[in-house]
Amino acid sequence: MSDYRARLSTLIDRERGAYTASHPRSAAAFQNSAGNLLGGVPMTWMRMWSGGFPLYLATASGARLTDIDGNSYVDFCLGDTGAMAGHSPAEVQEAVARRFGELGGATTMLPTEDAAWVAAELTRRFGPTYWSFTLTATDANRWAIRLARQLTGRQKILVYSYCYHGSVDETFIITTPYGPAARAGNVGAPVDPSETTRVCEFNDADALERELSHGDVAAVLMEPALTNIGIVLPEPGYLDAVRALTREHGTVLINDETHTFSAGPGGCTAAWGLEPDMVTIGKSIAGGIPAGAYGLSAELADRIMADKSADIEDTGGVGGTLAGNALSVATMRATLEHVLTDAAFAAMIATADRYTAGVREVIESRKLPWNIVQLGARAEYRFCPQPPRTGGESAAAADTDLDEYLHLYLINRGILLTPFHNMALMCPQTTDADADYHATVFAQAAGDLLE
Ligand SMILES: Cc1ncc(COP(=O)(O)O)c(C=O)c1O
Repeated sequence: MSDYRARLSTLIDRERGAYTASHPRSAAAFQNSAGNLLGGVPMTWMRMWSGGFPLYLATASGARLTDIDGNSYVDFCLGDTGAMAGHSPAEVQEAVARRFGELGGATTMLPTEDAAWVAAELTRRFGPTYWSFTLTATDANRWAIRLARQLTGRQKILVYSYCYHGSVDETFIITTPYGPAARAGNVGAPVDPSETTRVCEFNDADALERELSHGDVAAVLMEPALTNIGIVLPEPGYLDAVRALTREHGTVLINDETHTFSAGPGGCTAAWGLEPDMVTIGKSIAGGIPAGAYGLSAELADRIMADKSADIEDTGGVGGTLAGNALSVATMRATLEHVLTDAAFAAMIATADRYTAGVREVIESRKLPWNIVQLGARAEYRFCPQPPRTGGESAAAADTDLDEYLHLYLINRGILLTPFHNMALMCPQTTDADADYHATVFAQAAGDLLE
């Protein structure tokens, strides 16, 4: 591994050349998009793909995707979790056809009967008794935070360093040796996030206690395992300490299960027997149709409904015109009832076990100073010998050159990983052969690096 750095730029050039050669139509489409699209793409994150331009989508089904150049891929990106149910699952297609086509009326500001079924199912899976719907996980987090502030009369929230909870103003903050600081590149922040937010490292109960003891934290908004800075798992006892400390300090505990849903049908909350006061979720729960949800314990829900100073029906800052619309509720029902079922999770997790074992075998047999961490149906390799314990440690292990090399190497051989770091997710249609194919190509990529 000693002089792989010297080889890396040559290998990246080689893979960039192959990428450009095999994607002429995507390259042209990107050039043609430059005129009126901000950044040349429909949404600026789509610039994150390695290779200088994104692939343009032609078709997608299950765990497979094709681009407009006719290349096909095993898709472990799955829309950065939005397509964890697989692309266009048949039952969700049927729900769309029925609700939008046959019955008609996606957006009416009227409830449909599907909503009660979905809420009961979310209660069965995650615990909280009362649910309300959004269109994104970001909005679920925003509105959960507002409710927590209203309920506690406190202004601040607490998040973990290098967390990601969507484009929520309060969350773009990290710890530094000099104190809390806004994350680099924080666009047009309304105020310095240290005015709204306390921050500490994951897996550090003392730091959490210190921050909560100020008595001004309405809510801890957390993923039970960090997933957006690589996967950082909680150490034994840590989540118990979080629950005990939040209870002791009168702080609402919000589990954001948007990504950690990969841990099982009820996310980490059910898999690890957690007892948050609120749960938020989005992305995958409607099989790729925009939808999100937040759930509250009965006690919190009763208090908010009885609070005459909280306008949750009109312009009080909680709600959205298209949220809970008939189409997204119908597709949530189809996804939860028929696609991301308990049985589907068992199979997805077994495939992820195989994916992880394959990568681990390559890392160990080649003595690479890397590691892989699994969270149910999701796994991620990171370029440091031991799994990081905190967001800060994981951020320090980032290696953009290695990321680019591996992403391009895999794309050029028909495999998509999430463009952000090295996250791979299994959907119900991902096969053992897909996992094995990834391990084979990963071994070749490591072999080329070590030559
Ligand atoms: C844990 C978590 N919460 C919330 C979000 C926000 O999701 P969305 O961008 O769909 O609103 C994300 C997005 O990556 C996420 O990872």
